[in-house]
Amino acid sequence: MANYKDLGFVNTKEMFKKAMEGGYAIPAYNFNNMEQLQSIMMGCAESNSPVILQVSSGARKYANQTLLQYMAEGAVQMTRKDLKSNIPVALHLDHGDSLELCVSCIESGFSSVMIDGSALPYEKNIELTKKVVEYAHKYDVTVEGELGVLAGIEDDVKAEVPHYTNPEDVEDFVKKTGVDSLAISIGTSHGAYKFKVEPGKTIPPLRFDILEEIEKRIPGFSIVLHGSSSVPAEFVELCNKYGGKLQNAVGIPEEQLRKAAKSAVCKINIDTDGRLVVTAKIREVFATKPEEFDPRKYLGPAREALKNLIIHKNKEVLGSAGRG
Ligand code: G3H
Ligand code: 13P
Ligand code: ZN
Repeated sequence: MANYKDLGFVNTKEMFKKAMEGGYAIPAYNFNNMEQLQSIMMGCAESNSPVILQVSSGARKYANQTLLQYMAEGAVQMTRKDLKSNIPVALHLDHGDSLELCVSCIESGFSSVMIDGSALPYEKNIELTKKVVEYAHKYDVTVEGELGVLAGIEDDVKAEVPHYTNPEDVEDFVKKTGVDSLAISIGTSHGAYKFKVEPGKTIPPLRFDILEEIEKRIPGFSIVLHGSSSVPAEFVELCNKYGGKLQNAVGIPEEQLRKAAKSAVCKINIDTDGRLVVTAKIREVFATKPEEFDPRKYLGPAREALKNLIIHKNKEVLGSAGRG
């Protein structure tokens, strides 16, 4: 059994407390490989931002769970020794779907887990989440639960329309499960196609009315937003310019995330934007320098662009820069 504290990680308790008081949100970035992890750590160290490193089940399958765990440990050491930064780092399981998976992550050094029972009937969601909380809290590991279903694909469950979180449920859910934070559905969704926007129309705003209602019912409680990539037009265009086919890709406007970050939203999840930037830059190198075949020559520029995007988000969107 590895103790996350010995590995240099922290749980999300203190991070969220400070974020709530300071009116900003902690970035939660997904990683699957070394370059993504380097971009995240370099970007967060340079902007002096606390960070949550997220690992999905898919990432564990792709990169190997043991390797990912040691990579995250190595990333903390690199940040301390080489980047001379003391930013708080949490290692978090994204969209955990079973008690067994959460236990396995906690045993291998994760400081925080999400148990996503949002597709289950309400009572079953409570039952599963409560079990995870009971286990995790024994080791001072924090737990994120979810109520409401985002549109798009979540945990292999495909929802055409979102099932917004019902504010009437949140107090009961939080009380019965003992979760430390709650992911809610207010109009965000996973992936690069978040809205179907008719020509001449604007993107519909997030349901801040639901968020406000939730805040009234559980004041001071940490709220999480999934599906919060902005899908920057600049990188969609770059991707498409060099052979990509991302038609009508659209994300959450930055000003809406900025507004959310000032509220009880303490954690904002971003994965798609990282994928998009990396792919756009690799495409650009392939198209403009076809003679290159050294992976460092195309992964290097991709890593640099992702680092810069992370600095931008921490500074201009989430407000976490300077809070490390
Ligand atoms: O919410 C899901 C994350 O973007 C992770 O995606 O399961 O493809 O790794 P993934
Ligand atoms: P995006 O697909 O908007 O980046 O959301 C990622 C996410 O919610 C990870 O859990
Ligand atoms: Zn998610």
